[in-house]
Amino acid sequence: MENNWHETLDQLFPAEDLVPENIRLAAPIHQKNLLINGEIREWKGPVHTVYSPIYLKDKSGENHPLLVGSYPLATENEAREALEAASAAYDSGRGTWPAMSVHERIKCLEHFTERMISKKSEIVQLIVWEISKSLPDAEKEFDRTVEYIHGTISAVKKLNNSSMLFTIEQGFIGQTKKVPHGVVLCMGPFNYPLNETFTTLIPALIMGNTILFKPPKHGTLLFEPLLSAFRDSFPKGVVNTIYGRGRDTVPFLMQSGKVDVIALIGSSKVADSLKKMHPKSNRLKSVLGLDAKNAAIVLEDADIELAVKESIAGTLSFNGQRCTALKILFVHSSIVNKFNQRLAEEVNKLTTGMPWTKGVAITPLAEPDKPVYHQECLDDAVAHGARILNADAGGGSHYLSIFKPAIVFPVNDQMKLYREEQFGPVIPVVPFISLETPVEYVINSPYGQQVSIFSNDANAISLLIDKLANQVGRINLNAQCQRSPDTFPFNGRKDSAEGTLSIDEALLAFSVDSVVVTKQSPQNQQILENILSGKKSTRLSTNILF
Ligand code: G3H
Repeated sequence: MENNWHETLDQLFPAEDLVPENIRLAAPIHQKNLLINGEIREWKGPVHTVYSPIYLKDKSGENHPLLVGSYPLATENEAREALEAASAAYDSGRGTWPAMSVHERIKCLEHFTERMISKKSEIVQLIVWEISKSLPDAEKEFDRTVEYIHGTISAVKKLNNSSMLFTIEQGFIGQTKKVPHGVVLCMGPFNYPLNETFTTLIPALIMGNTILFKPPKHGTLLFEPLLSAFRDSFPKGVVNTIYGRGRDTVPFLMQSGKVDVIALIGSSKVADSLKKMHPKSNRLKSVLGLDAKNAAIVLEDADIELAVKESIAGTLSFNGQRCTALKILFVHSSIVNKFNQRLAEEVNKLTTGMPWTKGVAITPLAEPDKPVYHQECLDDAVAHGARILNADAGGGSHYLSIFKPAIVFPVNDQMKLYREEQFGPVIPVVPFISLETPVEYVINSPYGQQVSIFSNDANAISLLIDKLANQVGRINLNAQCQRSPDTFPFNGRKDSAEGTLSIDEALLAFSVDSVVVTKQSPQNQQILENILSGKKSTRLSTNILF
């Protein structure tokens, strides 16, 4: 598509001195540190230079991406040392951390959280510069993560207290508790670099596992302010960083056979290949949040205003860069024209700008190759008979990292946008007459994360719920797809996920049952009483946590 909007979009990138004081980086952050085995080590090797997706104008009006800093491009050698440190800290479950009482582990995590909160403004600033998330959303991501940690601490106390009881059954007396798996490799995504990384790292940690932690490719430097907090809050070797290119470090870790759990929020292709590298497939546990192509199904009786409002939040929050985003809209043919008109009116009202622009909805895209990919999707859709409904208002125009949201209609099964997870501000709309069209789409999709249904017809909704409940992890009624609230199960079917995350269930994903059992006899009862009253064992105990 011819881009007539260059000039307008160019104006969105400001001169450096127009960046508000509170968000301006004092200086680039050249990270020279790796956290391995409780030590912050100086890195003297090659580095990856981090440029922001946000461009700033120089005096001559030319745009340059802001230099955010650089981080170590560590190698297999450092990955090996980190792995050895994590394995030694776990020490087959006898290490200080896995053997520590839950109460003491909570104290360490609380200490870490206090230190983390003291770094809020630095971290939020780096979220903004590294991935161009709007300032309010970056703050929300930070606060949500702190709430997640607090929620995890409450959940772990509840889990601990509910496993104090002894069960007496068929002449046996036993106590079941949750114990750690071992070494956990945690890798989060760029779109929620802090939040989604910590939704696996924190539960894995508090359950007594030791951690290898690889920050996402975009959104790496924001963890730098936390390295000393990790070092000072946990015993040595419990949290170790893996910096550098994934291909230089992660295959080695997986091939070592010493990773007990892989926790990855990312692509199913990567997860698939990493799992295959592990030599002991039965030993490896996986906690995965992967690809999704969540559909909205808007029925003929739907409240169009509500459906439009939720579709915009679902497709365009953080520019559509959410795993839970609505990535295709099926709209009943009898209302699709009205729906499209209202959708275009509302999309065209959205503010495009910098993360600090008041009321901003659309910000620069974090992945440098994305504007070209989205253009390819639009070209492909147009070649197969679709139009960009809001082209007059700039829909589909792009310049540097800015991409104006495009509504594409009518989308059909010949188009890339029908199948591929666009992960960006492109809204494919598919008209349908028979409900079987969206139902078959969901059934035949390789993904199965969530779906949204918009209708007020209890019969039609029930029919769809019953057809789709075995296809996706969550069905949203008259609401966009989303992960939150974090107390709700977050999972997916098919290639979308493995395991369930929620504040409570993540604790179960990163632990395994340990049963201590004996035959019920006066002698064995006496032994149990001696152990419990003398507080002789950490594992076999009845310490209630408040
Ligand atoms: O990318 C997925 C995130 O978990 C988004 O969370 O759906 O609650 O906004 P959310």
